This record gives sequence, C-alpha cells and structure tokens, in this order.
Amino acid sequence: MQAVLVASIIIWFAILVETVDKTPLRYRPFRCRNGWSVSQTVRCDGFRHCVDGSDEENCSPPVLLEQPAPTITAIVGTVMNLTCTAAGIPPPIIEWKMNGKQPEANCDWVSEDGNGHLSCRMRLIDSGNYSCVARQPKATVESSISIVTVTGNVCRDGYFNQVGTKKTCMKCFCSGVSNLCHAADLFRWNYTMEMNSWKMKYAVVQGLNLNPKQLTITVYDKFKDVPPNTAPYYRLPFRFIEYQVGSYGGIIRYKIEIDNTIYRTEDPDIILIGYNTTLLFRNKSQLIIGRSNDVSVLLHEANFRQLDGKRVSRDDLMTVLAYIDTFLIKMYPLNGTYWPAESSFVMDASTQLGYHGLGKVARVEECRCPHGYRGTSCERCDVGYNRVYRFLRTGACMPWEWHRAEYMKVSTTTTMRNYHYV
Ligand SMILES: *[C@@H]1O[C@H](CO)[C@@H](O)[C@H](O)[C@H]1NC(C)=O
Ligand SMILES: *[C@@H]1O[C@H](CO)[C@@H](O)[C@H](O)[C@H]1NC(C)=O
Ligand SMILES: *[C@@H]1O[C@H](CO)[C@@H](O)[C@H](O)[C@H]1NC(C)=O
Ligand SMILES: *[C@@H]1O[C@H](CO)[C@@H](O)[C@H](O)[C@H]1NC(C)=O
Ligand SMILES: *[C@@H]1O[C@H](CO)[C@@H](O)[C@H](O)[C@H]1NC(C)=O
Ligand SMILES: *[C@@H]1O[C@H](CO)[C@@H](O)[C@H](O)[C@H]1NC(C)=O
Repeated sequence: MQAVLVASIIIWFAILVETVDKTPLRYRPFRCRNGWSVSQTVRCDGFRHCVDGSDEENCSPPVLLEQPAPTITAIVGTVMNLTCTAAGIPPPIIEWKMNGKQPEANCDWVSEDGNGHLSCRMRLIDSGNYSCVARQPKATVESSISIVTVTGNVCRDGYFNQVGTKKTCMKCFCSGVSNLCHAADLFRWNYTMEMNSWKMKYAVVQGLNLNPKQLTITVYDKFKDVPPNTAPYYRLPFRFIEYQVGSYGGIIRYKIEIDNTIYRTEDPDIILIGYNTTLLFRNKSQLIIGRSNDVSVLLHEANFRQLDGKRVSRDDLMTVLAYIDTFLIKMYPLNGTYWPAESSFVMDASTQLGYHGLGKVARVEECRCPHGYRGTSCERCDVGYNRVYRFLRTGACMPWEWHRAEYMKVSTTTTMRNYHYV
C-alpha cells in the first residue's frame, strides 16, 4: 500500500513538473541612489520602494524588437523554437501564449533580460496561434500572432491514427467543435464493481418490443423493489456513467450464468443512452446452460445498433460516451428467479498514471479544444461556460454572459419562467 502511494506521488510530481518556465530563479537587486538595494521585480511598479523613490525613475515601457514570423510550419515530432526580444526599463519578462492560453506540457520557455525563448516538441494538436507578451509591472505589449501549422499527419486532416498502426485512420470526434486531434498518450485502467453491490441500481425497460421502439425506463434503488414478472436490468452507477470517452476501444467484461430457465432472448444485453441517442448490444451466440459464460464486449461502433436496428457510426458511439446518461446490463434468471449475480463487472478506462501496469490505450483521441471546452474530446464545458442543448448533438458550451442575454431576451417578452436551461 505504502509503495503504491509513494509511486503515485512520484508519478504525479513527474506530471506536474512537465510544463516548465525554465527562467532561473535568482534575486536580482536594484541599487537605489542612496546605496540600498531592492528587488528588480519591484522596479517601476508604481510604488516607491527606495526611500528616495529612485526605483520609480527612468522607467521606459516595453518595446518589441524581434518576434516570430507570421506563419510557421513545423513537422510533427520535431522541436519548434520561437524567440521574442523586447527592450524597456526594467527589462520586460517574456511570456508565451498558444491560442490565448499558456502553452501546454510539450513546451519549455525561458526569459532573461528581455530575451524570451519558447521551445515545443510539436504534436498534431499544436497547430494554432502563438504570440509572446513582454511584461513589466505596469505595462505589457503583445506581439502579433504567428500562425503555426504542424505537418506530417499520416492520415488526412481531421483524422488520426491508432498508436502503432499506420493503416487505421479514425475521424476526430472532438464533440464536433474541433478538427485537430491525435492519439492520446494514456494508460489503460479499469473500473470494477460487484454485480450485487449495494451501489448497484436496477431498471425495468418497457417498449423494446414496440415498433418503432419507445423506451420507458423505471429505476429501482433496491432489488427487492423491482416488481415480480418483469425482466430487469442492472443500472450501473457512478464511475461507469457520465464522461467515458476514455473507454473507447476498451473492453467490458462480465459473466452470465443461466440454468434451465426461459428468458427473453430478443432483449439487448447492453443499453447505452446519452445525448438523446440510444445504442444496443446483443450477443448473438448461444449461452451455455449450467455454467458461467464470459462476455467481453469491445467498445467499438461495430458492436452496437441503433434502436431502429441501423448501424452505429464512431460519432454515434462517441456522442454517447461523451456523457452516458443510462448504462443498463440485462439480468438473466437462475432457476426461474432473478437475483443479482455474485460476479464482477469490469470496464476499461484510461488514465494519465502508468503504475497499473496494463499498458497503453490505442484508440482514445486527444483534441485541441476551442475556448469554453475541455476534456480529451472537448466533452466538458470549461469554468465559466454552461452547456446549451442546441446547435450540435452534444450541445455547445456558452459563456455565462450568453446565458444571461438569452434569459433577458425571453424574460422581457414573456414571463420569467419561460426560459429553461435544459
Ligand atoms: C530548436 O532548438 C533545439 C535545441 O536548441 C534544436 O535541437 C532544434 O534542432 C531546434 N529546432 C529547429 C527547428 O531549429
Ligand atoms: C488564429 O488567428 C486567425 C487570424 O487572426 C483567426 O482567424 C483564427 O480564428 C485564430 N485561431 C484560433 C484557434 O484562435
Ligand atoms: C483491472 O485492473 C487491475 C489493476 O488495477 C488488474 O489487476 C486487473 O487485471 C484488471 N482487470 C482486467 C479485466 O483488465
Ligand atoms: C431526441 O431524438 C429524437 C429522434 O432521434 C427526436 O425526435 C427528439 O426531438 C430528440 N429530442 C431532443 C430533446 O433532442
Ligand atoms: C457472446 O457470448 C459468448 C458465449 O457466452 C461469448 O463466448 C462471446 O464472447 C460473447 N460475445 C461478445 C461479443 O461478447
Ligand atoms: C437449479 O435447479 C436444478 C434442478 O433443476 C438444481 O440441480 C440446481 O441446484 C438449482 N440451482 C440453484 C442455484 O438453485
């Protein structure tokens, strides 16, 4: 246990220090006219630190002398070096922006005496707008944008290839808001749960035999509340639902045990619902009576069908994995009665931490998300943004001001209650 803890701390630390401002930390004194010293960092910040105020004299605002070219092409996997130079008193500190934010873990930078260097090991998702900012305590100046294009994708634009296989190109899902993605550098992990755990819930599904199918799902917290003479489903709890894009290409494993019992063969084994999309999985092979049958389902679009029997695209499956609302597993009766099984349910997931020793994931994408979005597939809204269920299947993340404006629009024409965020 302790070993695991130590290992996890070391790994976390390794991740945290990956993105580095390599500027040496040292105290730089400024000598006041009277001979005393104050820190260079307080020079020209609008406050007198020297008794005679000499630290606020002879200031001059930052001026950019050199900045990167307006367009730059970089090859994936190589190091891109950008330089910005600025003059001013005190010498400005050079900071960098990529699409308006601090560069990510693939970059290092250093700033000394008004000279700033950025170097980034370029990934496909690092195409974008780069700029530098020359900063003094009271003034900043930003360079114009350098548009960086990363070339060398094995697949065509908007597609990425699985780690280790050049043949299979998969379309970037990215919740429909980006075209830039690559195979995420993540490790495999899994979620495990006992089928008879107290955290498990149960559900009865009606409408599977209607044409077209119209599902009505009733959820029960305790198995004893499930009405008799129904064919119930397990309803998986937290961990297996909500944001699950990291499980794409992973495997779901569990066991089915049946005896000489009659059960509904036409009902699907797995029902996944998210963003108003329902996907069904049916195991067509015959179950063997009297022993436990191992089920293992690859989370791949080829294994699922829509409610109307149509094929499922990668976008359909990713849409559901972007936010699984309901995850149901069919229960099988044993000797004529249903009862939660004593076996476990395992679903693959992915993680940044490698100490589980299960290897790497191959088919999980990582996207360059626009403002307002986060998550490997841009499946979450950033802080300050809320989802509105419009525009795209997965909706869109809009800033709070947008929501307020929308609310005002409605509330001036009708009553306050007419606007729903849903
Ligand atoms: C960037 O700098 C590094 C180290 O200084 C060097 O190895 C690399 O070749 C440079 N990249 C380019 C594209 O000049
Ligand atoms: C990058 O800059 C160009 C030109 O200013 C702009 O059209 C584009 O939207 C910017 N891209 C991003 C991701 O900010
Ligand atoms: C689940 O992960 C654990 C380690 O965390 C591993 O020992 C186990 O074999 C994994 N199970 C499956 C089915 O992959
Ligand atoms: C859900 O999908 C169905 C059919 O695909 C459509 O008729 C319905 O309007 C959708 N509901 C919402 C809230 O998007
Ligand atoms: C279907 O069930 C059979 C027998 O139980 C099992 O061997 C097979 O792996 C299952 N197929 C899938 C895709 O789960
Ligand atoms: C199920 O019924 C069979 C006989 O029909 C019996 O041999 C078996 O022990 C029963 N199993 C359980 C779990 O009750």
